[in-house]
Amino acid sequence: MSVRCYLDNAATSWPKPDCVLAAMDRYHREFGVAAGRGATRAASEVDATIARCRLRAARLFNAESSDRILFTFNGTDSLNVAIHGCLQPGDHVVASALEHNSVLRPLSELRRRIGIETTFIEPEANGRVEPTKFREALRPNTKLIALLHASNVTGVIQPIDEVGAMARQAGALMLVDAAQSAGHLPIDVRNSPIDLLACPGHKGLLGSLGTGLLYLRPGVEQHVASFRQGGTGSLSEDDHQPERLPDKYESGNHNAPGLFGLDAALAWLEQHPAADRRRHELELRRQLIDALHDSQTVRLFAADLPNEFVVGVLSLTVAGFDPQEMVAILDHDFQIQVRAGLHCAPGAHRHLDTLADGGTIRISFGATTTTHDVDRLVAALRKF
Ligand SMILES: Cc1ncc(COP(=O)(O)O)c(C=O)c1O
Repeated sequence: MSVRCYLDNAATSWPKPDCVLAAMDRYHREFGVAAGRGATRAASEVDATIARCRLRAARLFNAESSDRILFTFNGTDSLNVAIHGCLQPGDHVVASALEHNSVLRPLSELRRRIGIETTFIEPEANGRVEPTKFREALRPNTKLIALLHASNVTGVIQPIDEVGAMARQAGALMLVDAAQSAGHLPIDVRNSPIDLLACPGHKGLLGSLGTGLLYLRPGVEQHVASFRQGGTGSLSEDDHQPERLPDKYESGNHNAPGLFGLDAALAWLEQHPAADRRRHELELRRQLIDALHDSQTVRLFAADLPNEFVVGVLSLTVAGFDPQEMVAILDHDFQIQVRAGLHCAPGAHRHLDTLADGGTIRISFGATTTTHDVDRLVAALRKF
């Protein structure tokens, strides 16, 4: 049996660097204690590792200080902390129609439960949203603009800076879903109009499943209530949730093994220039497009955009095959692992007109994907 060809890094990255596995293993073998809850040497070392992880994340995004970085359990959790925390009855939200269900569903829930209002902006033909349409959608009660940084279906990068500038002018908060950009694109929160940045730790940041991050611009915490309350290991005599960061938003035990892994992953990223990784992923995307652009059966989406507008994600369909069926064949017959379906982003498929046909097959590249992996996928697809 040939070696596994993993091309589903947009779902979660694989393989993780060895240092990530070693750090998680070390946590379990040598420490195994709760963070922020004890005075033992083991507990202090766990606390120190988690503090270092926070610092590395703050450095990666150029955050003002490490306490502006909150740990969550995945990208969805980060988005829920932000969305549920900042919206009140009667607030209006503008978001793109391309958002992931981790934005769409909290908004839908709040629309139903507390009566928020929502406006969704459809993308242009090239898959990018037009910033002026966000401006036109603003209302006096617009509290939040939410925009994903890069589409998890097509890889198309969205104009977050232009839209963020409009949010700022209008006095609304700007929430960026960086699930497909963190670790792939440079993000500088101090020099971008981003108020809240949400991302998983387990995709481009190369940490384990069960980790996520949320950045809050200074002062934004005054507009974002805590989403869950509980033990923080601090101010325990008080039955109110502490106001200080990050405790306000981090109740209950941390995913300490996951954060050991994330700390090692962020250290790995520091050693491997982001520009090199991005170039590598875009070369692989281009290799796939060049190899398949003349195919009579394979249809590629968002394949014509220049590199500056995409990340290493590409959607395609194969004529005569349901995406799920083709993905099962690729896995079973070729040991190639990709993802089929709507990718939790129905609006992206309405835009591509792939909703009724079961979505697309998504190919997503990572730091260790090789040109040989792409050759294998191309050879397999050419058989149909
Ligand atoms: C654009 C986008 N947003 C949010 C998420 C949710 O992230 P998580 O799977 O870590 O909850 C994903 C995951 O696929 C995503 O692609």
